[in-house]
Amino acid sequence: MAARLIDGRAAAQEVRARVAQEVERFRAATGRAPGLATVLVGEDPASAVYVRSKGKATREAGMESVSHNLSADIGEAELLALVDQLNRDPAIDGILVQLPLPGHIDSAKVIAAIDPAKDVDGFHPINAGKLAIGAADALVPCTPFGCLYLLKQELGSLSGLDAVVIGRSNIVGKPMAMLLLGESCTVTIAHSRTKDLPAVVRRADIVVAAVGRPEMVKGDWLKSSATVIDVGINRVDAGEGKTRLVGDVAFDDAQKVAGAITPVPGGVGPMTIAMLLRNTLVAAHRREG
Ligand code: GUN
Repeated sequence: MAARLIDGRAAAQEVRARVAQEVERFRAATGRAPGLATVLVGEDPASAVYVRSKGKATREAGMESVSHNLSADIGEAELLALVDQLNRDPAIDGILVQLPLPGHIDSAKVIAAIDPAKDVDGFHPINAGKLAIGAADALVPCTPFGCLYLLKQELGSLSGLDAVVIGRSNIVGKPMAMLLLGESCTVTIAHSRTKDLPAVVRRADIVVAAVGRPEMVKGDWLKSSATVIDVGINRVDAGEGKTRLVGDVAFDDAQKVAGAITPVPGGVGPMTIAMLLRNTLVAAHRREG
């Protein structure tokens, strides 16, 4: 039987509609809208598209969006000064510095300069630490938070399930593993040095693929009825000068084996922005006390 398709667009729409309603209440209670500042350094086309869609979604939810587009050769000190200014701006509740930053800028230093209370990406070491110790007030990175939302919607309780996260990035893999542990899954983090990855994946009730390698996870690696969350967004050659988007999972084969699977596009992608809006609203509420 073909796997159920997990509709990330529909789930993201639900989250965004709920956030928009709550923004209205926030505005009525405080006389202002929550504010999100985005910072883009350089002209990487994919990053520019992401940042523009984040700004558009922010405005559609009734929040203020302020975008700072900086030249690729901006100095680190200048960027840190902008972060400091945004930290002190009372109208700004969330700060998002789009990654990756150019090589001459120390990303860790920039992330650490963001006020943890405004760190709606959840990348600051304080928020990463809070997530690791299970603190309820952690701001959680948007993509893994969105994956967790889809998993809970699909499966209900995740308690006791075997979860394999493929990829160990600070943006997705590590926080995803922490979230699944928080749901009482038995969690394995696999990566490029993992021995016999197919055998590791075959044990999993839940597979989260976040490696950035097109169609790397094969259908015959999956346990029958596994729930598969594909975080990959890879542009590949489709012939005749065209390209198409594929995930990290070989979708056509995986769909024949899995119990449920996210498509690419239309799976995890839309959830990232929905969770960013949610984090911004949460940060705004906390700042108002
Ligand atoms: N680059 C890729 N994903 C993300 C994200 O979720 N947030 C930021 N700031 N940069 C990214």
